[in-house]
Amino acid sequence: MKQLTLSLLALTLSLAGQAENVFVNTPKTTLMLSVDEGHAPRIAYYGARLRPEEARQVYDAGALGGEAYPAFGRNSFGETALSVTHADGNMTTELAATGWRREGDVTIVSLKDRKYNFYVDLCYRSNDRSDVIETWTVLRNGEKKAVRMEQYASGVMPIRQEGAWLTHFHGDWGHEAEMTEEPLRDGLKTIVDYDGVRTGMNDRAEVMISLDGKPRENSGRVIGAALCWTGNYRLSIETRGRHCHTLLAGIDGLHTTYTLKSGESFTTPTLALTYSQEGKGGVSRAFHRWGRSGQLHNGTALREILLNSWEGVYMDVNQEVCEKMMDGISALGGELFVVDDGWFGRKYRRTRDDKALGDWVTDTVKLPRGIPALVKAAEDRGLKFGIWIEPEMTNSESELYEAHPDWVVAHPARELSKGRGGTQLVLDLSNPKVQDFVVGIVDRLMKENPTLHYIKWDCNMSMQNFGSSYLTADHQSHLFVDYHLGLRSALERIRKAYPDLVIQLCSSGGGRVNWGALPYFDEFWVSDDTDAQQRLFIQWGTSHFFPTMAMAQHVSASPNHQTGRVIPLKFRFDVAMTGRLGMEMKPSDLNEKELDYAKKAVAFYKEIRPVVQLGDLYRLLSPYENKGFCSEMFVSEDKSEAVFFCYKFENYIGLDAPRWHMAGLDPDASYRLNEFGATERHSGFEGKTFTGRFLMETGIEARMNGQFASRVIRLQKIDN
Ligand code: DGJ
Repeated sequence: MKQLTLSLLALTLSLAGQAENVFVNTPKTTLMLSVDEGHAPRIAYYGARLRPEEARQVYDAGALGGEAYPAFGRNSFGETALSVTHADGNMTTELAATGWRREGDVTIVSLKDRKYNFYVDLCYRSNDRSDVIETWTVLRNGEKKAVRMEQYASGVMPIRQEGAWLTHFHGDWGHEAEMTEEPLRDGLKTIVDYDGVRTGMNDRAEVMISLDGKPRENSGRVIGAALCWTGNYRLSIETRGRHCHTLLAGIDGLHTTYTLKSGESFTTPTLALTYSQEGKGGVSRAFHRWGRSGQLHNGTALREILLNSWEGVYMDVNQEVCEKMMDGISALGGELFVVDDGWFGRKYRRTRDDKALGDWVTDTVKLPRGIPALVKAAEDRGLKFGIWIEPEMTNSESELYEAHPDWVVAHPARELSKGRGGTQLVLDLSNPKVQDFVVGIVDRLMKENPTLHYIKWDCNMSMQNFGSSYLTADHQSHLFVDYHLGLRSALERIRKAYPDLVIQLCSSGGGRVNWGALPYFDEFWVSDDTDAQQRLFIQWGTSHFFPTMAMAQHVSASPNHQTGRVIPLKFRFDVAMTGRLGMEMKPSDLNEKELDYAKKAVAFYKEIRPVVQLGDLYRLLSPYENKGFCSEMFVSEDKSEAVFFCYKFENYIGLDAPRWHMAGLDPDASYRLNEFGATERHSGFEGKTFTGRFLMETGIEARMNGQFASRVIRLQKIDN
């Protein structure tokens, strides 16, 4: 233990010359900085855990590393992390190390401009639970007058490897997290998001760089990086000479010049990094563990099975239909009922999506006895209760907008461009009064309904009108940043007051999935597309960086409302069960046989929930392989339990199921297999035992007939 504690501490070795090697260690990785006072610090190494005495070998092997925080102006040949216009108009910055120190688990390397009183602290936090290193930068203006920052990245990672590949994710409404894998070629690859509000709507701020050629799931060296920021961002990978790559990530500087007055400082968002020798899967598991051990709100608590009203009744909510849905989910063994959009509005009633956002009072035409009556109805049925809000938004047809037209993001000189329903507008969260209003929405709901258990926090518009009535003319370019600092401050206040409230992050589906938001949220809505076939792809992509327990996955009606596809209930359940299971339909639309199946599926999910939500994910066969199959499994941390899922979503003659090779098991242990929902023809594994080694090396042949066949097999370790 002592040895472990000691080895987890970053270690310092003096090498020949003045440079010090500063180690930032996690259990399996090391980031080594070379800090030489009076010179720009370098990242000398990032990879598998190094022993202190191996530091010298890094240099002996000829490693060049790369500058830890390149600034614009002198010897800056490529992309730079920092670009500042100093008080006297000088646009150049030349940073040199002044020392380094350790504060708890954070290593801080201090830099100063050689001529100007402009200070930069590079911060690196090591995690002893997850192999994730968090890095961020604190910039301080010690000059006599204001300086303007045009670029202020969170962190930099030089990577030297020929034949590296990039994995990244993009998409739009209904097809989030589509995965692209491509070789890194000479030139600049940038991944940006300019939505202003919803960081994950198009491109996602997470990438993997595979160092051993084409990305593989469970082998090969891979670096993973995630920028934790809810606003506009820019990730860039500059490749020179095929093998020198520089990854740079941070707030996007476009239209976002940020002024620091004399004495002011700015802390950038965090860039989270990991390195794995276990392929992309290893990177995913590190990020999942990091999430569960702190970065995700309440990351160790099991998530409840819920019914959300949206696809069941859309905005036609009333006491009677809600009670009927509550009856349905309670009979199936569910634990929570959530009333979605449509419950509010007084002067303007939320009967359509063009009214009432901002007027968070119950529509007493639809719900004469108010929300407390819904809470009571849920509790009478043994369910907890949740409610939908979209706190950052308003409609031009709302009492809120009539009272506070200056609270919306817009420039008064311009006509408004409106979003959803032709009337939606974004509230200006850079304004502290708006922040108070947003916090007040939650406060009022909680005051009126002290047992309210869950909030679905939606966000359905981008920043279409640039401008703020709150920010001064010379600070308009702060809006893209200050909006999100305001949002963060409101969320912090809400979390301080209601730490146990479960809050779902939703944004036109998965439009805001980002690690910068998740410290305040328990889960997120993966996509508005609930078609089980397309969900295999969306969930596959999403799982690369985000843990299962946070992924809200709901069984919905067939034909599916988004795609019209007809998919059997078993397949729909089996796809939803790899995340936080829920339903998004009227249970009364199911027939007797389906209800019976759904009840069994909910009961089975409760049995496997700890492994699925808290275990390690091993992706086995990608739906992107174009084979018409997909498979993944979950293994508990102690490897005593596992659950295997496989799906067939294509059908043509000659499409035979592959032999399934499992992963993550204890090779020397024996596991008993039990299948859930097996047809008689498929029940061949029932009660049989295999060693972990056999299951991983030889594998099983789980036959699958027809389109939308799926199999779920539970593995339990037995005493030999
Ligand atoms: C968008 C969300 O993604 C949906 O789940 C639903 O809550 C609607 N908004 C409601 O307007």
